[in-house]
Amino acid sequence: FLEKSLRPQYLAQYIGQEKVKSQLKIYIEAAKQRQEALDHCLLYGPPGLGKTTMAMVIANEMQVNIKTTSGPTIEKPGDLVAVLNELAPGDVLFIDEIHRLPRVAEELLYSAMEDFYIDIMVGQGTTAHPVHFPLPPFTLIGATTRAGMLSAPLRDRFGIISHMEYYQTEELKEIVIRSADIFQADITTEGALEIARRSRGTPRIANRLLKRVRDFAQVQAEGKIDQPIADQALTLLQVDQAGLDYIDQKLLRTLIEVYHGGPVGLNTLAVNIGEEPETVEDMYEPYLIQCGLMKRTARGRMATHFAYEHFGYPKIKKEL
Ligand code: ADE
Repeated sequence: FLEKSLRPQYLAQYIGQEKVKSQLKIYIEAAKQRQEALDHCLLYGPPGLGKTTMAMVIANEMQVNIKTTSGPTIEKPGDLVAVLNELAPGDVLFIDEIHRLPRVAEELLYSAMEDFYIDIMVGQGTTAHPVHFPLPPFTLIGATTRAGMLSAPLRDRFGIISHMEYYQTEELKEIVIRSADIFQADITTEGALEIARRSRGTPRIANRLLKRVRDFAQVQAEGKIDQPIADQALTLLQVDQAGLDYIDQKLLRTLIEVYHGGPVGLNTLAVNIGEEPETVEDMYEPYLIQCGLMKRTARGRMATHFAYEHFGYPKIKKEL
């Protein structure tokens, strides 16, 4: 219950993603005026930036119901037919991790999105025949970590494509203050800023760190979260001064200490730190690249001189 209320319900409560919000605001208003379903939306960007929350906000703003599923949950076309069958006119169908939808299910979406019908095969062998199923007009909202992972035919059927970006520290500070208020946690502006600064530009991480810092403050400081308490708690959590977590640090240190700064292939790097290559690619790399601590080259991943400096190495060995 508490978890849920952390999510903003309307655009006006949603902090950050100003570009995405200002565009959606117009498209939503226009669709409502015409009494039509909103055009299909693709939300892409790193995990934890509020793609699911945004889908829920869109449904609320459109005053329609939302049905939620995900790429990996849909194993066969019938699973997708079942969710499509439950849609009422104007509803939102949210498919998380849409890049992991099986090909056969994805192909069903083409006609569903474009002309609101599906043709499904009924019967077996010589009695097999296609049956035409009309669907109500609906809005598909797809979420993915990288738009490049979608097939072109699917990507082209989204009329609205929104890129979710990492949040500014000031925006995260506002989110932390809002969440602390919902938790009824006692926090200073400086305390919120410290958590915001060290949350990798990601609200999901900010909210998680807030909970852990609150635990620490409760046991060590009579519940008051100020900057020194936040700093102590985050240090205990192995979140460093730049906000890099344990895995970020391990990844960069491995690049520097084992591979002399690289270049090294993604799979090799992932094996070395004991993570899945997909996790490294979707969760860790984008932030480290954005920070300028790491770069991707044709020959592999490399640590930049900023990474060397961050860990106190005097000099970079080599850099392309
Ligand atoms: N909680 C998590 N993400 C949020 C956001 N973008 N705005 C407001 N509250 C949030």
